[in-house]
Amino acid sequence: MKVQEGLFLVAIFYLAYTQLVKAQPRNDCQTKCGNVSVEYPFGTSPGCFYPEDNSFNLTCNEKEKLLFGHKPVINISLSGQLRVLLVRSKVCYDSQGKKTGYRARRTSLASFTLSEHNKFTVVGCNSYAFLRTSGAENYSTGCMSMCDSVPSKKGSCSGEGCCQTPVPRGSSFFRVKPHSFDNHTAVHQFNPCTYAFLAEDDKFNFSSSDDLKNLRNVMRFPVLVDWSIGSQTCEQVGNTSICGGNSTCFDSTTRTGYICRCNEGFDGNPYLAAGCQDVNECTTSSTIHRHNCSDPHTCRNKVGGFYCKCKSGYRLDTTTMSCKRKEFGWTTILLVTTIGFLVILLGVGFIQQKMKHQEDTKLRQQFFEQNGGGMLTQRLSGAGPSNVDVKIFTEEGMKKATNGYDESRILGQGGQGTVYKGILPDNSIVAIKKARLGDSSQVEQFINEVLVLSQINHRNVVKLLGCCLETEVPLLVYEFITNGTLFDHLHGSMFDSSLTWEHRLRIAIEVAGTLAYLHSSASIPIIHRDVKTANILLDENLIAKVADFGASRLIPMDKEDLATMVQGTLGYLDPEYFTTGLLNEKSDVFSFGVVLMELLSGEKALCFKRPQCSKHLVSYFAFATKENRLDEIIDSQVMKEDNLREIQEVARIAAECTRVMGEERPKMKEVAAKLEALRVKTTKHKWSDQYPEENEHLIGGHLLSSQGETSSSIGYDSIKNVAILDIEAGR
Ligand SMILES: *[C@@H]1O[C@H](CO)[C@@H](O)[C@H](O)[C@H]1NC(C)=O
Ligand SMILES: *[C@@H]1O[C@H](CO)[C@@H](O)[C@H](O)[C@H]1NC(C)=O
Ligand SMILES: *[C@@H]1O[C@H](CO)[C@@H](O)[C@H](O)[C@H]1NC(C)=O
Ligand SMILES: *[C@@H]1O[C@H](CO)[C@@H](O)[C@H](O)[C@H]1NC(C)=O
Ligand SMILES: *[C@@H]1O[C@H](CO)[C@@H](O)[C@H](O)[C@H]1NC(C)=O
Ligand SMILES: *[C@@H]1O[C@H](CO)[C@@H](O)[C@H](O)[C@H]1NC(C)=O
Ligand SMILES: *[C@@H]1O[C@H](CO)[C@@H](O)[C@H](O)[C@H]1NC(C)=O
Ligand SMILES: *[C@@H]1O[C@H](CO)[C@@H](O)[C@H](O)[C@H]1NC(C)=O
Ligand SMILES: *[C@@H]1O[C@H](CO)[C@@H](O)[C@H](O)[C@H]1NC(C)=O
Repeated sequence: MKVQEGLFLVAIFYLAYTQLVKAQPRNDCQTKCGNVSVEYPFGTSPGCFYPEDNSFNLTCNEKEKLLFGHKPVINISLSGQLRVLLVRSKVCYDSQGKKTGYRARRTSLASFTLSEHNKFTVVGCNSYAFLRTSGAENYSTGCMSMCDSVPSKKGSCSGEGCCQTPVPRGSSFFRVKPHSFDNHTAVHQFNPCTYAFLAEDDKFNFSSSDDLKNLRNVMRFPVLVDWSIGSQTCEQVGNTSICGGNSTCFDSTTRTGYICRCNEGFDGNPYLAAGCQDVNECTTSSTIHRHNCSDPHTCRNKVGGFYCKCKSGYRLDTTTMSCKRKEFGWTTILLVTTIGFLVILLGVGFIQQKMKHQEDTKLRQQFFEQNGGGMLTQRLSGAGPSNVDVKIFTEEGMKKATNGYDESRILGQGGQGTVYKGILPDNSIVAIKKARLGDSSQVEQFINEVLVLSQINHRNVVKLLGCCLETEVPLLVYEFITNGTLFDHLHGSMFDSSLTWEHRLRIAIEVAGTLAYLHSSASIPIIHRDVKTANILLDENLIAKVADFGASRLIPMDKEDLATMVQGTLGYLDPEYFTTGLLNEKSDVFSFGVVLMELLSGEKALCFKRPQCSKHLVSYFAFATKENRLDEIIDSQVMKEDNLREIQEVARIAAECTRVMGEERPKMKEVAAKLEALRVKTTKHKWSDQYPEENEHLIGGHLLSSQGETSSSIGYDSIKNVAILDIEAGR
């Protein structure tokens, strides 16, 4: 009982062991039999051959002959082939046709199979033979050969005395049967037998003179046999294959099962666990593994390969495996020159860019100087602590602000230049005026203008924010006034004229006040020289802003008149200035008179639709006044019952302003005062209509406030008094 259990356990452990550890041959296995080497998976003793297939069990007999079954083995290739010797079959007859010898052969290859590199050969005249196989598939093949004399052709088995047929691979059991058609009686003299056998390709060369007689007494022919491990593919066996380290499993190409092969650069028995070892290609004598460095001294071995090491300054030419001195090939030269050329091109481009940039900067600097930038900065710095707040803009900033002076940004085009809408980086909107090509003699005056205008901080003058002097023509940057020009409002090119008489009077007062201020109050008197409705801008509250000082001139303190080129707008141009060319502040008075007339009549300063003699608004007015039909030419929109007297007064002022002789015209200051007085009356009128009880105090306050500072407190006081009174009354 116990013994049986023990045996059983041993059997179990043995099984488990063989499952886990890949079967390996013993260490003391015979590796040579005669001069044929025997290697695993083949072996000649138990424990030396692949244990799962007895076909690998070879025998080495006492004559040192290696046998596969009873068949001598002459060669074993570990890549799946075995060369064995098989005895030929024959049938022989005597001269009477009596059979004297007969040998048919059965051969079994166990689990191995016949290779396709064998041929079935029949030698004889009057002969035929069959090869019958059985295995996975059963088939028969054969050939016949008939001749009545010794064939004269030599050296080929082509049907005369010898026939050959290819053999399909794969069969592991076969029989060879030789036959004769007529017992060789006709050919007995030179061919008494039929020989039939399998032989490896090229291992039998037919010789008609030698072989028909007795096949040169050769008994055995080498036959190639395919073998492989198991009947599963590499994929199926996975890591349970017997392939050792540094080797790879391959599916057999000739049959089922797999074979193992050492990896590239390794050599040895791939079926042993540590069979495949690195080949030292530099020293090996094997032609398969030998290095191909042209100079053996340069060869260096590495695991799984080798390399040819060249001295420094030399490189390996892989077509000849020899070391060549490093030199620049034409591709390198081409590459280098191309890169060099590119670098030069880039460099030249860069330098050009830089030079252009410098040139630009120089040009900008030149323009800046030409436009009086130096003078301006000097003046600005010399001006000391003043309210000068004129910014110098860069050309680039201006270009950006106007979107490259885009046409869509043009707000207007006038005698003095083009006005663009500009958007500064801080998103504020400005008007940018680009002057017409400047002339250098006026630079100083331009600078003066910039200086003076920047100092004018009058609520009715468009504020100058800055200038740009880096361009060929100077650019002026103004605050942006939203509501168009008075011209547009009056002549309806953009807006419906919704200007009431009150608006118009206020605008007239504002403009008159501004001009008076320019003529007398500003630090250096300024003549606007181009007063016209188109140069009076209106903001969102319809407050007038006098603009376009492009033609303006500064009058030196010691001079009354200034001789200039006559400049201005037809219709507004002072006839005296026009004829004498002498400019003084009365020219502005004339132009303002025309503006007043425009405000009154809603007519344009110059209109060719009016009768010949009334084309000019001044003469139009003069005629109407003369014929006492002024009310006819007043704009119906402003004409009301209660303002007739004011209109007449304004018309009278307008007429005074447009007198032919400058001397006879009032000063701007006087005009402003007269108009202001009119408004006071109007306001009084209004107020007295609406608040008849309180008018005393308020009118008093207003009147006084327009004349002096102290008065407002009186008005204020009086109101306070009322308030106090009220509070006291409430108690
Ligand atoms: C094997 O060795 C013997 C001598 O031992 C030699 O005569 C014979 O030709 C050799 N055979 C082969 C196939 O090398
Ligand atoms: C190997 O073959 C020989 C002779 O053919 C036989 O005696 C022996 O038992 C075989 N060995 C095994 C393990 O099958
Ligand atoms: C076995 O065959 C290989 C090539 O297939 C050959 O190089 C080798 O010499 C052969 N060995 C013998 C003993 O015939
Ligand atoms: C061939 O030999 C067989 C027996 O060996 C004999 O029976 C037969 O008659 C012979 N045929 C001829 C044509 O000689
Ligand atoms: C081949 O022939 C043998 C007997 O000659 C028979 O037993 C076997 O079944 C045959 N095989 C096939 C696939 O027909
Ligand atoms: C047969 O001839 C071929 C070339 O014709 C030659 O390569 C081969 O070695 C010969 N075989 C024998 C066994 O002489
Ligand atoms: C084979 O691989 C499996 C996993 O893929 C592993 O569990 C097993 O131990 C391996 N066997 C051997 C003999 O390496
Ligand atoms: C693979 O080859 C290297 C180099 O010859 C050797 O050191 C190593 O032991 C081999 N690996 C195995 C598993 O045999
Ligand atoms: C030299 O051998 C290497 C690896 O064995 C091979 O890749 C290369 O093509 C060979 N070169 C020449 C010129 O034979």
